[in-house]
Amino acid sequence: MTKPFPNIAVLQENFAPVMAECTAPDLIIEGELPAGLSGTLYRTGPNPMFPPLGDKHHWFLGEGMVHAIRIEDGKASYRNRWVETDLYLAQRKEGRRLKDTTFEGAGVPGFDHISRNVANTNIVWHGDKLLAIDEGSSPVAMDPFTLETNGPWDFDGKYSGPMTAHPKIDPETGEMLFFGYMASGPGSKDYAYNVIDASGKLTKSEMFEGPYACMMHDFITTDEHVIFPLFPATIDVERIMNGGPTIAWDPEERSYMGVMARNEGVDKIRWFEGEPCYVYHPMNAYTVKEGGKTKIVADMMKYDRVPLFPNADGTKASQIGLDTGKLVRWVMDLDGNTNSYTETQLSEIAGEFPRLDERRTGLSYRHGFHAALFGKKEVGSPFDTIVHVDVETGQSVTYTPGPGKYVHEPVFVPRSPTAVEGDGYVVTLVYDKETNLSDFIVLDTGDISKGPIATVHLPIRVPFGFHGNWRSD
Ligand SMILES: [Fe+2]
Repeated sequence: MTKPFPNIAVLQENFAPVMAECTAPDLIIEGELPAGLSGTLYRTGPNPMFPPLGDKHHWFLGEGMVHAIRIEDGKASYRNRWVETDLYLAQRKEGRRLKDTTFEGAGVPGFDHISRNVANTNIVWHGDKLLAIDEGSSPVAMDPFTLETNGPWDFDGKYSGPMTAHPKIDPETGEMLFFGYMASGPGSKDYAYNVIDASGKLTKSEMFEGPYACMMHDFITTDEHVIFPLFPATIDVERIMNGGPTIAWDPEERSYMGVMARNEGVDKIRWFEGEPCYVYHPMNAYTVKEGGKTKIVADMMKYDRVPLFPNADGTKASQIGLDTGKLVRWVMDLDGNTNSYTETQLSEIAGEFPRLDERRTGLSYRHGFHAALFGKKEVGSPFDTIVHVDVETGQSVTYTPGPGKYVHEPVFVPRSPTAVEGDGYVVTLVYDKETNLSDFIVLDTGDISKGPIATVHLPIRVPFGFHGNWRSD
């Protein structure tokens, strides 16, 4: 028998899982879907299938559920499915949870052979494959139309280690670049670096040792460089052996930005250093060449410390939440004689989930998008506002759906393949506390403050999740 979920903030309100998988055609649409908008928004996030084993639960460790909103010929449909990892299938068969949902916890005896892949962090289309990814495991392939799980994907047997949920797709070559941390096993300082060509074949696989093991959630690439950012949310084997937390804020350590030329190898990484801080998500980065000198510009959603994890001594974290990130610009001078970087704040608005017009990934850019919280902080810090920021001027245009309504990460869709940067739509989901349902909305980037040009009413609520992507038809 499945018991009720406990009263834990990240299992309440719209953080609570939905227990139904459904398929819903011909959804009600208010307004007009743009004629040129044809494709699918995939979203994912943790949707725990059973209550936690104990009285603790980490938001990051619920089993992933993928939501697909499909737009075609002015019509909209919706479908959601759990990612059927080995862990999911074993738990479904047993009818109970087999792995603890804390970073410290273990599992039910007898099931150690099943790894904890929750595949809940991002859902990425590349090389003719739809990949559900959590950063601790290899990706899981899913059918892009039915959302049936096809199984683990190891790049034709060439790489089966951990993969960041934030691979970068080079808009010019179509290559997908990614890293994996703890690539040699739990607690290792080894980081893997891989390149997949546009057709999905692995063309480069390297490994390097970083200054320490840490939760390296995301990274940045430019047309010429790769930047590996390490922040002191460390994973220290000695601390863990002494009963300390698995991932913890350790301000005794520095922040590092490992810069590597894409045409060189990991043995040529140059480490820039800065004050301890944390970045879950960069917005973008690019290489600037002027007068024979090379600089790297990296725009980061920066926190003073890592949110959602304890201190290294095991004490509880301060109240810093996901709504306190600040968009800053770091500049690394590759011809300078210092290994430090400069910092400038780009915007006054705090937020998370930075995205851009991904045709400019790794290139100079101007238009950024992110989520923010303008209203009162509610349980679990959901966001209530979408922000369109001009990173050149720092000016922003915002859209707040209204009281009791909360937004997910914004995803940019170009108006047409040849539209200028930032010209198009922001698509996202809005949860309405009153109806306990979610909408898919389309904002025009010409002025997002005008509100949605189209709203699709979903037949279900979509829990607050992590990331998603638009796949154009
Ligand atoms: Fe992320």
